[in-house]
Amino acid sequence: MIIAIDGPSGAGKSTLGKMLAKKLNLLYLDTGAMYRAVGLAVLESGTNNEKKEKIIKIAENAKIELIGEPDSLQVLLNGRDVSTEIRTNEVGQMASIVSTISQVRKILVEHQRNLGENAPKGCVLDGRDIGTVVFPQANAKFFLTAKPEARAQRRFGEDLDKGRAATYEQTLAEINLRDERDVSRADSPLMIAEDAVVIDTSELDLREVFEQMMCVLRERQSDERTRMARPHEV
Ligand code: DC
Repeated sequence: MIIAIDGPSGAGKSTLGKMLAKKLNLLYLDTGAMYRAVGLAVLESGTNNEKKEKIIKIAENAKIELIGEPDSLQVLLNGRDVSTEIRTNEVGQMASIVSTISQVRKILVEHQRNLGENAPKGCVLDGRDIGTVVFPQANAKFFLTAKPEARAQRRFGEDLDKGRAATYEQTLAEINLRDERDVSRADSPLMIAEDAVVIDTSELDLREVFEQMMCVLRERQSDERTRMARPHEV
């Protein structure tokens, strides 16, 4: 069972991904955290973001692990817990920059496929290219989106809760910059997979989105059961 959740930053992907993974007892993979871990490694190395070859080397040598339950997921970079450090806007921007490099994507996509394929009961993955590139055969694909203002408001609220210094205007500008880079890159840009269910979360609360997603999953399961019961039909 592979569930793909794609969409821009702040649309609710990770919260809903965790909720689904918990409910269905699946592994949860935050693929953005992997790009963020590479972004952090690049920032810490002092490498200029124009130096592609050096960034690729850093990605090749970075051992990235995601461990623990969905709610307490820890991100390890070369054995060090970087779960908090990777959440800054600076790291988010660098993650978006390194994610434009095809070789970096290749390394991380392979890692994501391995983890997803080996998850005993299946996996919920959230990112930008899960339904289009990482698992095009996913059992269910969701594309969560929301107006930039709604997403910025959420991110801004989270930043305030965590005591990070930010203004709403700054957060909105950063979201717009990251969106622009994520949709316009040549390799695996953020886009809606043909067979994805699109949910605009601007006016919905988490429960409502969760219920819509569960409803789609139940329908898929029942279609699958019907198909299995009539194996000779095309
Ligand atoms: O989901 P996030 O905000 O933590 O992701 C950080 C950046 O990583 C995002 O701006 C683009 C990149 N990313 C990607 O290119 N592909 C993914 N599957 C996940 C994230």
